[in-house]
Amino acid sequence: MTPFLDVRNIGKSFHGVPIIKNFSLSVEQGSATALIGPNGAGKTTVFNLLCGLYPLDSGEIFIDGKEISKVPKERRIRHGLVRSFQNIRLVDHLSVLDNLLIGAYIRTPGPRTLLTPFRLQPRNAVSRQVREKLDALGLAHIADSPAGRLPYGLRKRIDLLRATLTGARLILLDEPAAGLNPSETHALMRQLRALKENGATLLVVEHDMHFVSSLCDQAVVLNFGECLARGTPSAVMREPAVKTAYLGTAYERAQP
Ligand SMILES: Nc1ncnc2c1ncn2[C@@H]1O[C@H](COP(=O)(O)OP(=O)(O)OP(=O)(O)O)[C@@H](O)[C@H]1O
Ligand SMILES: [Mg+2]
Repeated sequence: MTPFLDVRNIGKSFHGVPIIKNFSLSVEQGSATALIGPNGAGKTTVFNLLCGLYPLDSGEIFIDGKEISKVPKERRIRHGLVRSFQNIRLVDHLSVLDNLLIGAYIRTPGPRTLLTPFRLQPRNAVSRQVREKLDALGLAHIADSPAGRLPYGLRKRIDLLRATLTGARLILLDEPAAGLNPSETHALMRQLRALKENGATLLVVEHDMHFVSSLCDQAVVLNFGECLARGTPSAVMREPAVKTAYLGTAYERAQP
């Protein structure tokens, strides 16, 4: 089966220093993959390369069998690629519903926008569909609240819902659980699981290994820009090389 996301031997240097070295990644549709590794390993840089923020020095990236390595960053959304940023980008003075409508309307930008289902419908029909999505998350009561007044955990979930309304099929999440309390983390987890069940493919950078183990089917460990290990989250965390990378060589020396 063709992987939904296929990253083949990508490389990137900054000022002559190799940061990502011959890195490959294969992700099946409807699965969740964690990209983990120590600080500075290159995880966010991999996301930046996937999004097209930086050009690749070498290698290729395919989404659903189509090469997107040279597709400009703003057009990658057409291939279903969406990134959820740590600094949430909601328009604070607009209501939750209006923020979500932005997501619904930017679905498939360009001339084809005119042909997309949302565009062909009157605004109130689109609003009704978006309200139904909110209701499914148990969030109907905040539809008309200004986004800026919501607590951080809810803003995070609205940001994620907006990303999915763009028609996203591959969602990149950089540290989604950072700054959330346990009940907010649990609610976000439920939302992410539901997305997965509906066929979305998730790629997550996250330091919280409990979160990773509960959500992700595979974990890929990056260290100094190279793949150190891959497998189920629990299997990779048992690997001695991974423990060493996380804790430093002192960990090994301290073992009896
Ligand atoms: N635009 C850039 N110019 C120069 N160096 C960069 C650039 N972006 C990233 N780097 C360097 O690449 C390395 C990897 O950084 P990156 O942010 O990808 O790590 P990370 O794994 O996301 O770390 P963290 O867990 O701390 O978020 C770091 O040494 C960083 O300084
Ligand atoms: Mg990072």
